[in-house]
Amino acid sequence: MQRIVTIERFIIEKEHEIPGATGEFSKLLTDIALAAKIVWREVSKAGLVDIIGSTGKVNVSGDVVQKLDEFANEIFINVMQKGGHLCVMASEESKGLIEIPDELAKGKYVLVFDPLDGSSNIDVNVSIGSIFGIFRRVTQSGKGTEEDVLQPGRNLVAAGYVVYGSSTILVYTTGNGVHGFTLDPSIGEFLLSHENIRIPKKGDIYSVNEGYYERWDENMKKFINYLKAEDKATGRPYKLRYVGTLVADFHRTLLYGGIFMYPGDSKNPEGKLRLIYEAAPLAYVVEKAGGRASNGFQNILDIKPTSLHQRTPLFIGSEEDVKLAEKFLQGKAED
Ligand code: AHG
Ligand code: MN
Ligand code: MN
Repeated sequence: MQRIVTIERFIIEKEHEIPGATGEFSKLLTDIALAAKIVWREVSKAGLVDIIGSTGKVNVSGDVVQKLDEFANEIFINVMQKGGHLCVMASEESKGLIEIPDELAKGKYVLVFDPLDGSSNIDVNVSIGSIFGIFRRVTQSGKGTEEDVLQPGRNLVAAGYVVYGSSTILVYTTGNGVHGFTLDPSIGEFLLSHENIRIPKKGDIYSVNEGYYERWDENMKKFINYLKAEDKATGRPYKLRYVGTLVADFHRTLLYGGIFMYPGDSKNPEGKLRLIYEAAPLAYVVEKAGGRASNGFQNILDIKPTSLHQRTPLFIGSEEDVKLAEKFLQGKAED
């Protein structure tokens, strides 16, 4: 029988592996688990209470804001700002920086997050999620600034996500392995269920919204047609799986292997997904699990953001599959 370990106990056990770790970092991760449990409680009631549906507002990215997006954003801000570990936060659902109120203590970390990913799936009971990343501040003291948030993913000290689905799982890494914890609702605890997740070097599943095929450039079309061609020797055709919730598509890719793609196209050259709080945290997770994440030409973790909500094309998953995608996208693949 697998040992029963709560996420809080696991975080404390692993704390000594982080150079210069203080209890502050562990408490920060524990607070994130608490915020996830509160969001889960509302997500699991969605439909029973008046929390689904839209607020009628749109966020800075132009996405319609669902009530659960707003609720989740408030929960993360409320829980995380009180811990005293952060100097600033940034969220998909907040236009500018989220400052720590003057009366609250500030810490040396920065939190970036997508409080609710896959909003369009809330009303139809399809898995949704949350994504988070943690940086150390780069400014010396006082309130955090944009400089503290606009850091390349390479600087992350922790990242992870939650999938609120058939079961609810929280996956995170602090750089030493990627670990998954499944929520046991009967005791309200995240219990260790996937220790040291490693992504297969190559998979046989591709994940992309083919509805946009006609908008893609020729190299992207060539790559997808390559994956769909019959060739036993290279495990083709790949299967297509697309949930429409990034964290759900990513979690399947992490466990089964393959590649998730949200490319740029003729209408949206930078794609739809945001660099700082969607692509970079998942790129950090996948790399710590032995995978790779790219915008087609550059490792996602090496991209220095210039604005909070900037978008990036995203190709993420098994190392061999992502490298093959890069070859096609750069016009270097022989058919
Ligand atoms: P969010 O709900 O946080 O705005 O994210 C939605 C994103 C992502 O979850 C998913 O991969 C993508 O939107 C799906 O976009 P399409 O409907 O264009 O395929
Ligand atoms: Mn999202
Ligand atoms: Mn979102």
